[in-house]
Amino acid sequence: MENIWNSPETSSVNRLPMLNVEHPTYVSLDGNWNFQLLAKPDAPLSNWQKINVPGLWTMVDGQQPFGDKPIYTNTQMPWDHFAPTVPDDNPTGIYERTFNVSDNLVHKRVVLQIGATESVHIVYINGVAVGAGKDSHLASEYDITKFVKAGENTLRIKVIKWSDATYVEDQDQWWHGGISRSIKLYFTDKVFIERLYATPTLLADNKTGQLHVRAHINSIDNEDFVNYKLQVRITGKSKAKAEAKVIAKSAPKWTEKTIAEHKAGEDFFQATFWDGNMPKAAKAAWLATEPIIPGPLDFTVKLPVAPWSAESPTLYDVEYVLTDPSGKVVQTATQRVGFRRVEQVGNQLLVNGQPIIFYGINRHDFNKRTGRVISEADYRADLLALKANNFNAVRTSHYPNDPVFMELCDELGFYVIDEANIETHAFQNQLCDDQKYLSQWVDRIARLVQRDIHHASAIFWSLGNESGAGLNHRAAAAYVRSFDPTRPLHYEGAIRGNWTSNHDLTDVVCPMYPSISAIISYAKSKKANRPLIMCEYSHAMGNSNGTIKEYWDAIHSLKGLQGGFIWEMWDHGLDQTLPDGTKRSAYGGNYGEKKHDGNFVCDGMFFPDRTPKPAMAEFKYIAAPVFITKKGAKYQVFNKHFFIDLSGYKLSYEITVDGLPKASGAVKLPAVKPRKAALISIPATTLKAEGAGERFLTFTLTDRNGHEVAWEQFALKSVAAKQPTKIAKVVSDGLIGFDLAKLVDKQGNLNLPEQVVAPQLILWRAPTDNDAIGTVSHKWNNWGLRDLKCASSKVSKQGKSVLVTKTWKTSKGISIKHIQKVEVVASQIKITETVTLPKQLDDVARVGINFELNGALENYEYFGVGPHESVPDRALGKVGRYFGKVESQLTDYIKPQECGGRVGIRWFELRNGQNRGLRIDLDKPRMVTVLPVTSSALADATHNVYVKRSGTTVVTIDAAHRGVGTASCGPDTLDKYKIRPGVHKFTWIISVI
Ligand code: GAL
Ligand code: MG
Repeated sequence: MENIWNSPETSSVNRLPMLNVEHPTYVSLDGNWNFQLLAKPDAPLSNWQKINVPGLWTMVDGQQPFGDKPIYTNTQMPWDHFAPTVPDDNPTGIYERTFNVSDNLVHKRVVLQIGATESVHIVYINGVAVGAGKDSHLASEYDITKFVKAGENTLRIKVIKWSDATYVEDQDQWWHGGISRSIKLYFTDKVFIERLYATPTLLADNKTGQLHVRAHINSIDNEDFVNYKLQVRITGKSKAKAEAKVIAKSAPKWTEKTIAEHKAGEDFFQATFWDGNMPKAAKAAWLATEPIIPGPLDFTVKLPVAPWSAESPTLYDVEYVLTDPSGKVVQTATQRVGFRRVEQVGNQLLVNGQPIIFYGINRHDFNKRTGRVISEADYRADLLALKANNFNAVRTSHYPNDPVFMELCDELGFYVIDEANIETHAFQNQLCDDQKYLSQWVDRIARLVQRDIHHASAIFWSLGNESGAGLNHRAAAAYVRSFDPTRPLHYEGAIRGNWTSNHDLTDVVCPMYPSISAIISYAKSKKANRPLIMCEYSHAMGNSNGTIKEYWDAIHSLKGLQGGFIWEMWDHGLDQTLPDGTKRSAYGGNYGEKKHDGNFVCDGMFFPDRTPKPAMAEFKYIAAPVFITKKGAKYQVFNKHFFIDLSGYKLSYEITVDGLPKASGAVKLPAVKPRKAALISIPATTLKAEGAGERFLTFTLTDRNGHEVAWEQFALKSVAAKQPTKIAKVVSDGLIGFDLAKLVDKQGNLNLPEQVVAPQLILWRAPTDNDAIGTVSHKWNNWGLRDLKCASSKVSKQGKSVLVTKTWKTSKGISIKHIQKVEVVASQIKITETVTLPKQLDDVARVGINFELNGALENYEYFGVGPHESVPDRALGKVGRYFGKVESQLTDYIKPQECGGRVGIRWFELRNGQNRGLRIDLDKPRMVTVLPVTSSALADATHNVYVKRSGTTVVTIDAAHRGVGTASCGPDTLDKYKIRPGVHKFTWIISVI
């Protein structure tokens, strides 16, 4: 036990089998403990300090009071060792407290439950080592009856940070050390429920629920438990009961046999009845002299039920009562179960017979102030935030979460890929075939399944992540398949490189980051005999998630594609306060780590404080419960649900003209059945709402709480738009009048009203994570795209306009031709830009015009796609009028990068506190970015708190803007969203307002 951290063969010492019911009464040992952090596991003790339990010593409310800090590495190990060895310098936390056992409890069996520790713990009671365990994300229980005494006892938990098990926990997240989940004590009689496995399923009629119960009753001190009875009772909408009794357990008696017994024994050994059909009488005779192997209590209850699904998560309470032969209650337990059926049939995964779709996300346990100590309130808030954005599925990447998480998923309705805590990324193809690790593999996977078998939400068992595909996997898969034949297996490692391989290890083709064309070609192939559900796709790092719509166009239209799980929920930025008081969100390297993987840990759909990133709006639209389409003069509402009708929703509409509401109302929505559609209509007179301008019809679907769950917008026939507002007058002396001669100086620079920096060509953006890691920004660097200098400029008159012909040069000497035609039309300035990108510049960030205005123009209104940040390949939003501060356009990506743009902009206005300023109209809907910072300032800052404000209002109008794609992990931007060489022409018109 003392060397367990260097013993890959050992996953635990004296640990009890995994129990999955909460004991009705327990003593919480959470709270303030004595603590000290040692440099090595065998270092001598020194001074005691205090720590809260559960608590990681690396992350105590955003601080590192004990010195040891979080480390972030992705695939690499945090040090240079080969498995299974670990460094001698191995932070070790000693957690200690006392607890009392009252006289009346001392005769009971005492169990200590340790929620989770990272990565190995050894338990001592009153100075004696009683057990040890691995797996940083599952509970360990120890029978400490023999070690406790009446009165005060001392509990010490020694937690060792690095161990052989660290190599099977090489997940892409922060490394921490300590106790991350609760510590409890509970007391049982000498006879107790040792293991309890309840498997709820739904029979083929979709009406009958079946609960299969397998329970192991056991005892300490050789206490007899023959004739103890376990009863199960299901309450809720329907009720049912069943029970089973422990039958005699005895050792073989080698007495003289009767002739009948002798004959039966011989027949049995010689396999006379080789097909198992031994006559009853003969079997009884044989059993009379053979031991009865005490097996589990095994029985089944059936009852009429309302099925469980993520859409309609009906649960039933199950009560278990263990009684002694006199009928006295010895132990009780409760569970909540839901009845549903999961099957893989060919290339479809069916839940209750339906090919459901997984609108999923990968979720790590993460909290910005406590690391991985997650409260029930945190878990609930996480799941509600996911629900609010139309997610219906979670993969517990890449380890089991606290049991309460599964309970919440049952209750709130989520399909879960329940993943075992195995990732050997740095030694991917080695440890999975290494016999030394066999028991850890089987133990981790088996214990997860044992713990969660009764959970309706657990749809797949996942064998872990990124660990190759080896013999250890096969051993574990075999265990799971026979322990729980009711659920399919999930394992990405099994199909990596070949989507037709390793059917023994996975029942689903669950690739990570496949291209859209690959999933389409799989779905269309005759070889596709398993459903395809992407275990990871659309890497949400920084300004990302481009082309998510194209993935879903494929999923929504092809049989056998059943969704996927976005990578991932969180930006794991940790709260950090620097010595100078600066507060920032820390990522890899920010704690002085020698080896680290930078901000690759910030790749979620939520910022660390649980605010969704702009990309969330795109996903929410896609995962909405309805499709609304146009059908002739009517509109069709299709119910995407598989199990519930639309009676819980309300539909309303609004008609806008130039973004201003003109008519609105409620639409009578029938209770459309699952997977069916209904036609609705809006009166023709209403559709012809008055007024000239661009007209849109927008539908909004809300749930019972009035929360918007879906929207759709249709362009209506528009009456020619008004001319933009005329200029009243030139505003003040400081402004240049619209005298063409003054508007363009001799160097060809424009002098716009309120201008601070004149309009310049821009082909670059502050590299997004996808640009940088996907390497397109290296190209931009090689081309010198960031710094364009005007190499030559010619100003000429052409009728009533001025023509500025410029040649820009990149810092690496590449020339770009740019012509600006400047006219004054109806008191407005009209500028027509013609940019010719040379062949060499075959993949630039944007083609646009960038200028800076007086920072007093801080109020921004636009008519375009909003309200969220958008990019050409993540462009779903409602066309409308949006208003806000320029400052609020900035998206606070932890590592600053290009952000804040909006696509589809027709016009925008920038005003100061006196409501004066500029209006810019565009020749057609275009992407515009208005920010209080420059792209260079974004690119130069390591963290959002360091982005230098320009003091100006920085405007960029793009004729073209490269899609963001997902190249930080996954496919690059699709070709159709890249910018090609050649001529780019656009017009903008300025008015003073
Ligand atoms: C996957 C891996 C995840 C994460 C992601 C990139 O390969 O399974 O754990 O590392 O890539 O963020
Ligand atoms: Mg990995």
